Amino acid sequence: MDLELIPAPLRADGREGRGFVLDPSTTLAAAPGTGTTERWLRVTLGAAFGLSLAPGPEDAPGALVLRTDGSLAPEGYRLTTRPDGGVVLTGGSPAGVFRGAQTLRQLLGPGAFRRAPVGEAGAHGFGPVDIEDAPRFGWRGLMLDVARHFMPKDDVLRYLDLIAAHKLNVFHFHLSDDQGWRVEIKRYPRLTEVGAWRPRTKYGHRASELWDETPHGGYYTQDDIREIVAYAAARHIRVVPEIDIPGHSQAAISAYPELGNTDVVDTSALGVWDNWGVTPNVLAPTDHVLRFYEGVFEELLALFPPETSPFIHVGGDECPKDQWKQSPTAQARIKELGLADEDELQSWFIRHFDTWLTARGRRLIGWDEILEGGLAPGAAVSSWRGYAGGIAAAEAGHDVVMCPEQQVYLDHRQHGGPDEPMPIGYVRTLEDVYRFEPVPPTLSEEAAEHVLGAQANVWTEVMQNRSRVDYQVFPRLAAFAEVAWSALPAPDERDFAAFEHRMTTHYARLDALGVGYRPPSGPLPWQQRPGVLGRPIEGAPPNV
Ligand code: ACM
Repeated sequence: MDLELIPAPLRADGREGRGFVLDPSTTLAAAPGTGTTERWLRVTLGAAFGLSLAPGPEDAPGALVLRTDGSLAPEGYRLTTRPDGGVVLTGGSPAGVFRGAQTLRQLLGPGAFRRAPVGEAGAHGFGPVDIEDAPRFGWRGLMLDVARHFMPKDDVLRYLDLIAAHKLNVFHFHLSDDQGWRVEIKRYPRLTEVGAWRPRTKYGHRASELWDETPHGGYYTQDDIREIVAYAAARHIRVVPEIDIPGHSQAAISAYPELGNTDVVDTSALGVWDNWGVTPNVLAPTDHVLRFYEGVFEELLALFPPETSPFIHVGGDECPKDQWKQSPTAQARIKELGLADEDELQSWFIRHFDTWLTARGRRLIGWDEILEGGLAPGAAVSSWRGYAGGIAAAEAGHDVVMCPEQQVYLDHRQHGGPDEPMPIGYVRTLEDVYRFEPVPPTLSEEAAEHVLGAQANVWTEVMQNRSRVDYQVFPRLAAFAEVAWSALPAPDERDFAAFEHRMTTHYARLDALGVGYRPPSGPLPWQQRPGVLGRPIEGAPPNV
């Protein structure tokens, strides 16, 4: 019997008949170490079905039992119904129990994804099951760019719920860019006073003639960040904060002009960028800039504790070297340090923060440009410009997260038709994402061990609000989640038809959650953006 679970579990045996019965008499027995799931079940299932799930002993008839068993994989779990109408959920760790609870919720039907009961009160449940499950990868991530368009805190919390519902466990929080600085840094108030908003914004691709003249902005206070981090931790999601350096820094430079290459441009005339692309305005390679960002990272480390944020992302992508080439200060620095060129200067910048973070018990991760000019010793790499950077880094013994833009950039359009809103990039359909393989076959066995996992990235230049983000992210995040969690065969051998069949049920779950996904038949009228220019990638494969 197909239990219609997404992501698909490792092994599942399901039968028709009486298995678990959830009704007002159901009690919850939560063993030590299962408290996060206990609370989560009361808040979600309790609300969805109007039940209190009162505490009770494990042997109470029909009990919902939560346990841990260290012999299972840490994020693995076993879910088994009992003949008395109860169910036992055993996780390899508290995180495993939580992942199993997501399966339990799916088995209870789409109604379990609502926040209050619909229809008759009464019994809910499912047939006898015995499920054994564990993830393929330990890093199953989603990156949200909250810099290009700010995502209010409540929407971030909602995305953490959506991530959790798909058994993902990493939230990469892109907090700074040319177009906005989104985290309060107490010692540098202008980062948010000045850097967190812009007076107008390009509407559509940068080639579009349109502007949105509404001021745009927002930022998270330090308490907002603490709340987000705690909310993620309660869902066993790690948070990877990103402050992008030395490129993508115009918002910071507009707040503190001395951070830029003042001997090349009048940085005091720069504003937070209102357009898209890559600006030449990058950080100056000075001691002042290093000290400034040490200050930023000091506050960041206090906000993102090591247990849930072992990795700190420093960006490192798309840093044009033109200003450094023209800057006497940058050239003097190159000479003083005995460096070959500007690439090595960027590498020196990143190495500084690798050493700095390592000394504080954290690990640096950056986009694959950090390979250029030599990779810092402890650094891990987010491989975005295809697989090549990830392969080079993994073969050199560095940890890698595979997030190639050709496969898993969810800002890229998901259909080649004329109705896709603000279409940019490659056409990457639900099926394309389903056939994404994080471990390239050319990788040696030893290097493959360095692939920590995979991540889907969501850049928000053409996503002004949560509905636009929902449209781009769903349903493709469901396919991505199965790639990252389930033990799928090689891409050509994956049963996409069976996945699509399970998606029928999953759409009902997404409907209950209020997710504005792209329907299989195409965008609804209000999801279209007629007349707003996008830009397909030139030279992309023939399906573009
Ligand atoms: C990136 O897409 N610039 C990492």
